[in-house]
Amino acid sequence: MSQTSQAFVDAHPSAQDNAVTVRGVSKNYGAVEALKNMSLEFPRGQLTSLLGPSGCGKTTLLKIIAGLLKADSGEIIVNGKAVTGPGPNRAFVFQDFALLPWASVLRNVAFGLELRGVAKSEREAKAEKYIKDVGLAGFEHSFPHELSGGMRQRVGLARALSVDAQVLLLDEPFSAVDEQTRRKFQEDLLALVANENKTFIFVTHSIEEAVYVSDQIAILLPRPSRVHEIIRPSNFRAKGIDNIRRDPEYLDIVDEIWASLRNYVE
Ligand SMILES: Nc1ncnc2c1ncn2[C@@H]1O[C@H](COP(=O)(O)OP(=O)(O)OP(=O)(O)O)[C@@H](O)[C@H]1O
Ligand SMILES: [Mg+2]
Repeated sequence: MSQTSQAFVDAHPSAQDNAVTVRGVSKNYGAVEALKNMSLEFPRGQLTSLLGPSGCGKTTLLKIIAGLLKADSGEIIVNGKAVTGPGPNRAFVFQDFALLPWASVLRNVAFGLELRGVAKSEREAKAEKYIKDVGLAGFEHSFPHELSGGMRQRVGLARALSVDAQVLLLDEPFSAVDEQTRRKFQEDLLALVANENKTFIFVTHSIEEAVYVSDQIAILLPRPSRVHEIIRPSNFRAKGIDNIRRDPEYLDIVDEIWASLRNYVE
C-alpha cells in the first residue's frame, strides 16, 4: 500500500474496505467471451490499473461496474450493495469522450449534475471549478468540435469529477494527448488520488504509465479474457517520473509485465 493510501487508512479506518468487488463476472457477446469468470477487488483510496491487449475486455468490465451493461453471470458489489444499474456513486470517463456535440464545454461538464437535478447556478459554479482544475479555463463556451482530442478528454474528466462520485472509472483518459500533456495529467491524477479518498479504476495501454501511477495493476489476457496476475508496484510515484526511468526495480517490473503481454500483442 502506498504512503498516501496508508495515511487514508490511518485517518479513516473504513478506508480499508474494498469499495468495489467484482465477483465471478462473465460476459459474452454472441460467440465472443469478453469476460470469463473474472474476480477483482478495488480498494478505496487507491488507484488500480487494468492493463492488457486490445480486446481483452477492459471497457466491458468498466461498463458492467458502471451498471451500463449487464453481466451474464456474477456480481459487482459497490459499498456492500450489488449493482443493478447506473448510480451516482460511480462516474465514467469514456474512451471515446461521449460529449454532447451540440452543447458547450460548460454545459457538457455540468451535464452529470443536470441529470441529478442540481440547480443551474450551483451546477455551473461547480463545473467552472473543475474546468479550471483540468486546465480548460477560457474554453467554457467552446463546443466539442472546436477542441483537440486531449481537450475533449479533459472535458470528460471534469464532468466525472464534478459529480463527486466515489468510484471513478477512467477508460484510457490520456490516450489522445501528447507525451508532455500526459505527464501533466498523470501528476494531476496522482494529486487526486492523494487528496481524495476515492476508488480509481484506470485503463491504460502503457505499461510504464501503469507501473508509475498504480497501487495495484490487474493484468488481463484475452481469448478468453481473464485476470492473469495482480501486481502491486512499490511506490514509484513518490520518486517521480524523472527519477524512476533508470531505477532497476522499476525496469524489472516493466520487463516482467511486457513478458506476460508480448505474445498477445497483435
Ligand atoms: N457491443 C459489442 N458487440 C459485440 N462484441 C463486442 C462489443 N463490445 C465489445 N465486443 C468484443 O468484446 C471483446 C472485448 O471488448 P472491449 O471493448 O471490452 O475490449 P478492450 O479491452 O476495452 O479493448 P481496447 O483496448 O481496444 O479498448 C472484444 O473482442 C470486442 O470485439
Ligand atoms: Mg476499451
